[in-house]
Amino acid sequence: MDLIHKFLNVVFPIVSFIIFIFLLPILSLYRLLSFRIRSVFRENLAGKVVLITGASAGIGEHLAYEYAKHGARLALVARREEVLTAVAGKAKKLGSPDVMVIKADVSKIEDCKRFVDETINHFGELDCLINNAGIAIVGLFEDQERITDHTSVMDINFWGSVNATHFALPHLKKSKGRIVVIGSCGGWFTTPKVSVYNASKAAQQSFFETLRLELAPDIGITIVTLGLVDTYLATNEFIYKTNLDKTPLLSVGGCAKEIVNSVRRGDEHLTEPRWMRTVYLWVMLLPELMSVARRLVNAKRGTTSPNQESQTTGQPLDIKHD
Ligand SMILES: NC(=O)c1ccc[n+]([C@@H]2O[C@H](COP(=O)([O-])OP(=O)(O)OC[C@H]3O[C@@H](n4cnc5c(N)ncnc54)[C@H](OP(=O)(O)O)[C@@H]3O)[C@@H](O)[C@H]2O)c1
Repeated sequence: MDLIHKFLNVVFPIVSFIIFIFLLPILSLYRLLSFRIRSVFRENLAGKVVLITGASAGIGEHLAYEYAKHGARLALVARREEVLTAVAGKAKKLGSPDVMVIKADVSKIEDCKRFVDETINHFGELDCLINNAGIAIVGLFEDQERITDHTSVMDINFWGSVNATHFALPHLKKSKGRIVVIGSCGGWFTTPKVSVYNASKAAQQSFFETLRLELAPDIGITIVTLGLVDTYLATNEFIYKTNLDKTPLLSVGGCAKEIVNSVRRGDEHLTEPRWMRTVYLWVMLLPELMSVARRLVNAKRGTTSPNQESQTTGQPLDIKHD
């Protein structure tokens, strides 16, 4: 057995390198052509039933507006009902023929079952589930006093997506629908002070990559990996405490538009901003250099006291919407 591995350790990288050199140009051409064709034959969203978790603010809220402009029917889920109702009102004005709001917490499995059931009872079908709800807790891991606080990040970001998907699957299978996952570049480009958040996004992305293999061709999956977007999650404590304050933010409206365009093309992956895809290559091919660069950025700014360090950057439940 060991001999086989020793042989593969030498031969496999060399053979792979040669294959990459020949295949990459052909694959790039195929990708370009396929992108052009999918851009022409984009999905018509009019009348489609779209369920969005975390629709009361940020990316989820703007996805609701973007889908509304295309005439989709919407089920909007979040914990703050009053704020959701305001979003629903605006979505109707923008062109959605029917919008329902469902107060629910994605970290509770019974809530996930209920919001899928209520959507089906109201609309009779489901074409698209958007797993968007998410929070982050910022701070050095060693400074965390109550490590159990961090389970909420996993419960919302990872289990919230998994549980909602579990209950939506039979309906999405019937409609040959789509799952959209709002992931983060933090899932593969790790930065300090958001260790559990990054882990939750890596787990989420890995789960849905596996599910894609199991569900094809009945259900399509679009995994969105985002850089920093100008929302409450990123603008509050997140960017300063993670030393990412010099990183350009994507506008939340522009980001929602790109996501909906990508879904209409039936893309399997979307990375926004697009240049982050090149960072992925740097991380894969030059990991030592990337680690040193990230440590330098972190060391240069210093750290604050442990009390200031830990901060949940999910929406506080008492804030009102504009
Ligand atoms: N902003 C960024 O830079 C960025 C970058 C990469 C990825 N992302 C991802 O994008 C997604 C949306 O983030 P955002 O930036 O739009 O954040 P946001 O502005 O803070 O909005 C988060 C949304 O999630 C909802 N939510 C939080 N916990 C929930 C729960 N337990 N149950 C149901 N809904 C819940 C919130 O509504 P309620 O408080 O009313 O429940 C809110 O609608 C997240 O998954 C995040 O990880 C964001």
